[in-house]
Parts: sequence; C-alpha cells; structure tokens
Amino acid sequence: MNFELTEDQSLIQQSAREFAETEIAPTVIERDKKAEFPTDIIKKLGELGFLGMMVSPEYDGAGLDTLSYVLAMIEISKVDASVGVIMSVNNSLVCYGLEKWGSDYIKNNYLRPLAKGEKLGAFALSEPEAGSDATQQHTTAVKDGNHWVINGMKNWITNGHSADYFLVMAQTDREKAHHGITTFLVEKGTPGFDHGVKEDKLGIRSSDTSSLTFENCRVPEENIVWEIGKGFNFAMNTLNGGRIGIAAQAVGIAEGALDAARKYAKTRKAFGTEIANHQAVQFKIADMAVKVDAAKLLTLQAAALKDAGQKYLKEAAMAKLYASKVAVECALEAIQIHGGYGYVREYHVERFLRDAKITEIYEGTSEIQRIVIARELLKD
Ligand code: CAA
Repeated sequence: MNFELTEDQSLIQQSAREFAETEIAPTVIERDKKAEFPTDIIKKLGELGFLGMMVSPEYDGAGLDTLSYVLAMIEISKVDASVGVIMSVNNSLVCYGLEKWGSDYIKNNYLRPLAKGEKLGAFALSEPEAGSDATQQHTTAVKDGNHWVINGMKNWITNGHSADYFLVMAQTDREKAHHGITTFLVEKGTPGFDHGVKEDKLGIRSSDTSSLTFENCRVPEENIVWEIGKGFNFAMNTLNGGRIGIAAQAVGIAEGALDAARKYAKTRKAFGTEIANHQAVQFKIADMAVKVDAAKLLTLQAAALKDAGQKYLKEAAMAKLYASKVAVECALEAIQIHGGYGYVREYHVERFLRDAKITEIYEGTSEIQRIVIARELLKD
C-alpha cells in the first residue's frame, strides 16, 4: 500500500491543521472546563466542507476519499478530540449511511444540509440495556397508516442535544430479532421526541452526549432509511466506517500527546540539563513514536481498503482497537514526562488522557473489536 499523499490530501491535511491551530486551540481548555459545545467552530467546519467530506458533490459534499477524512480527523483531534468526535459522527455515522442507503427523498432533503454543515446529525443505536449487545433493541416502531410510531429510549448519543437529524434504530418486528430492526430519520422537534440532560463526562467534555426519549413519536414512512428490517445491517456497516473515524481521533490524541511531550522535554531542565537528554525520557518518547506510527498505519490501511472498495471490517476494528490503546498509553506517558505540570489543565496532556479513554469504549468497546477481529480470522 502506498501512503504517499497526493497534492489534494496534503492540502486537506494542511488546512485542517491550520484551522485546528487558529480556530480551535484558543478556546479548547475553557470549553473543556465548562463543557461548552463548540457551536461557532462546528459552523465554520461545515462551511469549509469538513462535515460532509466523503459525500459526493452531487449531494453538496466535498467528494473526498476516506484517507483525506482520516488525515483531517487526526489534525483536528490532535488539538481537540471533542470537535473530532462531533465531526466524525456527522461524516461517518450519518452522512455515509444516508448516501449509501438513503432514498432520493432522504438524500435531497436531509443529506444535502448535513453535508454542507447547515444541519448536524446523530446516530442512535445504544440503549440503557443494549450497549455492546446491540441486537437487543427495546425501542419499538409500529406502523400506523403512512406513519410509524416510535416508543423507547436511547443512551449515550453523541450530538444528542445539538443535532437536527437523528438516525434511530428501532424494532419493527420482534419475531425476526435483529432482522426486524429498522432505521428511521427523526427530526429534532418532532412531537414525542425529546432528549435528556447532557451527561457530565470525564472527557470529550466540549461535545454533548445525552439520552433520547420517544413517546408515541410519529415519523413519516418516507423517513425509513434503506428498507424495513435492514436497520441492524445498516448500523453495523455504518459503524465499520465510524470505527476508522474513531481510530483517527485516537491517533490524533496520541500524536498530540507525543508533540506536547517532545516540546516539554526540550525545555524543562533537571539534573543540569534538558530532560530530553535523559535516557528515561528518550525511551518513553521513542516508544510513543513507534506506537503512534503503527496506529496511524493501521488506520490508513483501513481507510485505503475502504477507498479501494475492498472489505475493511477487520482492519477497521484492528485500527480502532490499537489506536485507542495507544492514545491512552501516550497520554499517560506524556503526563509522566510533564511531572506535576502534566496533572494540571494548562499543559493539555491531562485532557488528552481523559479524552483518550472514551475511544476504547464508544463505537464498539475494545472487547467488541476483538470479537469482530477474531470472528473474521476464525470463520470458514
Ligand atoms: N459489520 C457488518 N455486519 C456485522 C458486523 C460488522 N462489523 N458485526 C456483526 N454483523 C452482522 C453479522 O454478520 C450478522 O448478520 P446476519 O445475521 O445477517 O448474518 C448480524 O450482524 C448479527 O451478528 P452476530 O450474529 O455476530 O451477533 P452478535 O450479537 O453475536 O454480535 C456484535 C454482534 C458484533 C456484538 C454487535 O452487536 C456489535 O458490534 N456491538 C457493538 C455495538 C456498537 O458498536 N455500538 C456503538 C454505538 S454508536 C456510539 O458509540 C455512540 C456515538 O454516538 C458515537
């Protein structure tokens, strides 16, 4: 596989880096402290095409490949993983599935504004009693004339407060188990649909996460995405791409931690010299760099396979599993290199650790990624 960047890919990477440094970095500590959603930043990201990166220009997207998306995700998450996850959910959990499986009606009415960043999307699969065991959907949808009536609750929904459009998985035929799950596009403001309070989280605090409730929420039939009974298939296939996005987010956090550690080690003095001259610190930095590169290569591999139209389910799971572990490890080492300074907000690395942890949990825990990888390796 050749990962030499094209001119376009380099430009995307550069513009994401500049945007992150000039527009995101100045407010990152304060937004994290206050758990404040980055409304203006998301608006600007949308105007620049970063919220519908892989959507074709036919539907107002940027028409870029997954590799470009990964590069942009890394640059943004290196500075602020909260902005990274908001961007990732809109791109890979919402826009991707709508373009691939949505009807013309869905694409024209919902995908276009999502791809332009005029509207924001959310993906609602998890429930209070259906997290890793996602086939156990309790939310139901029952047909009534040319509408479907949704009842139930969703949990841990990224963009739960800020999104305009929600992709909601609901059981439409209990007897068919996971083949009886259907995806509905629900608009914010639909009667019977509401969100719970914003979760007070350890990390990615500037992104919002909340539960959703549905009480006799009527959704028109044309808002079914793909087909009745295809909802679980939709969710799983969408999550395969989503996991590449989260792997890229984790690589960004790990790279951010490495950059911070290198910078600090070259200025901080102890025992008569910069701490970068001590082998104890050098070894940590060397190990971090190896892990970051390995995680990045796994992530680029999964993206390249997806772009080539090849199967990437196992590789996406491998990338997410490894990159999320590396993000946690690199953040921890960066704190250790910073000593006491690493334990306070000002130096960013404590936030990297808090933000890194969720990458081992959402869009499939590390244990679920291992299940996906092992099943692929052991089948036949
Ligand atoms: N890609 C495509 N299809 C998949 C798949 C994948 N990664 N994983 C499972 N499937 C398919 C299987 O092929 C099977 O299809 P058929 O029945 O049609 O043959 C079907 O799904 C059921 O699979 P299993 O029989 O293997 O079912 P299982 O219950 O033993 O395992 C699971 C399923 C892999 C554990 C699945 O439930 C899973 O991935 N769970 C994790 C869910 C998850 O990632 N949730 C995150 C939600 S989003 C989020 O985090 C919030 C946010 O806002 C960011």
